[in-house]
Amino acid sequence: MNVLLIGSGGREHALAAAMARSPLLTRLFIAPGNPGTAACGENVVVDVASHGAVLDLCRLMSIDFVVVGPEAPLVAGLADDLRSAGVKVFGHSKAAARLEGSKAFTKEICDAAAVPTAAYGRFADAASAKAHIARHGAPIVVKFDGLAAGKGVVVAMSAAEADAAVDDMFAGQFGHGEVVIEEFMEGEEVSFFALVHGEQVLPLAAAQDHKRVGDGDTGPNTGGMGAYSPAPVFTEAMQADVMERIIRPTALEMARRGMPCSGVLFAGLMITKDGPKLIEYNARFGDPECQVLMLRLQTDLLALLLACAEGRLDEVSVRWSADFALAVVMAAQGYPGEPLKGSRIAGVDAAAALPGVTVFHAGTSTDAAGRLVANGGRVLNVSATGRTVAEARARAYAAVDAIDWPEGFCRRDIAWRALG
Ligand code: AMP
Ligand code: GLY
Repeated sequence: MNVLLIGSGGREHALAAAMARSPLLTRLFIAPGNPGTAACGENVVVDVASHGAVLDLCRLMSIDFVVVGPEAPLVAGLADDLRSAGVKVFGHSKAAARLEGSKAFTKEICDAAAVPTAAYGRFADAASAKAHIARHGAPIVVKFDGLAAGKGVVVAMSAAEADAAVDDMFAGQFGHGEVVIEEFMEGEEVSFFALVHGEQVLPLAAAQDHKRVGDGDTGPNTGGMGAYSPAPVFTEAMQADVMERIIRPTALEMARRGMPCSGVLFAGLMITKDGPKLIEYNARFGDPECQVLMLRLQTDLLALLLACAEGRLDEVSVRWSADFALAVVMAAQGYPGEPLKGSRIAGVDAAAALPGVTVFHAGTSTDAAGRLVANGGRVLNVSATGRTVAEARARAYAAVDAIDWPEGFCRRDIAWRALG
């Protein structure tokens, strides 16, 4: 079959590489893709924001199946428009993607489905939000719910800090919205992934990410600086518990409301002393979590995604390698602020030839001479597998050291929790 994958990051390179191995695949198109995905299929240029243009491409290239990588096209309703036109899609409807788009909506679903999550209150004005903070004290978590990209979440260690976050979030320029104030949960964070179609659910696997830019979890938050899977803190019993108390009730509640899920559900979990609790949902695979999952996946990815889209999750099973997989994100100087673009990167092929190593492209491009250059914040995902976390990590860092890119940087402590 002919498949169109939407997206351009390291997550999409990993998905493309996995689908390229599928016996079901005839041609793979990636829109827009990156220099890494060009080795797995054919990169195509299309304005993904124009659903009509995507549909035209599907007809022109006889696309049988569209796989949507990032959340933005889902939130914009791309999956709905393709499905209405008769195209098969892996990815949630606009209504289901609200699980990622709206924190208040997710909390409402958690309440209705009795999903364990942080206690919370919703406030439409600063005075009532601050009164709630005064009643509960710090640490406390302040989240903006609305169209306020970048003003997301403040984990406040004092009431004064929480009050300041409230003022900041209600300041006029961030538009209208609500503030969600949550109980602070203490524990290790885990990213858990499951496929969901209506009332059908199928567990995938868990990974751990590193959100802060600096070693020792210091500095500003990022999209993720490295990941590994499996996550030793996340036991099989815990996975079963998360499926029964978090994923399945969410799927049932969404279906009951007439907004069924169809795609991957990414549960950001806090492993508290009272067990796993939901921090947030995303309607897509994590990046770089997807990269480590794909390195461990032994089942045909395309067959799995198709089974999800066709509502046949009860017919498939998933096998994982017992090996560890670990990804180190190499970012361009400046990230997570404005990254330096255009610097040359050499040595990627030599790095990728090392034992157990795979290098996924995330924010790369080629210059006029066809040489690899940085073209984004997170640029490469230098990844490796190994029998132990320590082996995977040693291999990944050996590959990082084989890459000649003075303008890039990475964390040196990926998987420190798993190495104890
Ligand atoms: P979110 O955008 O909701 O995932 O929040 C971003 C980050 O803030 C999470 O990855 C956590 O590290 C932290 N966080 C969010 N909610 C809580 C909470 N209720 N308790 C503790 N930390 C939280
Ligand atoms: N790495 C976290 C995310 O994809 O949101």
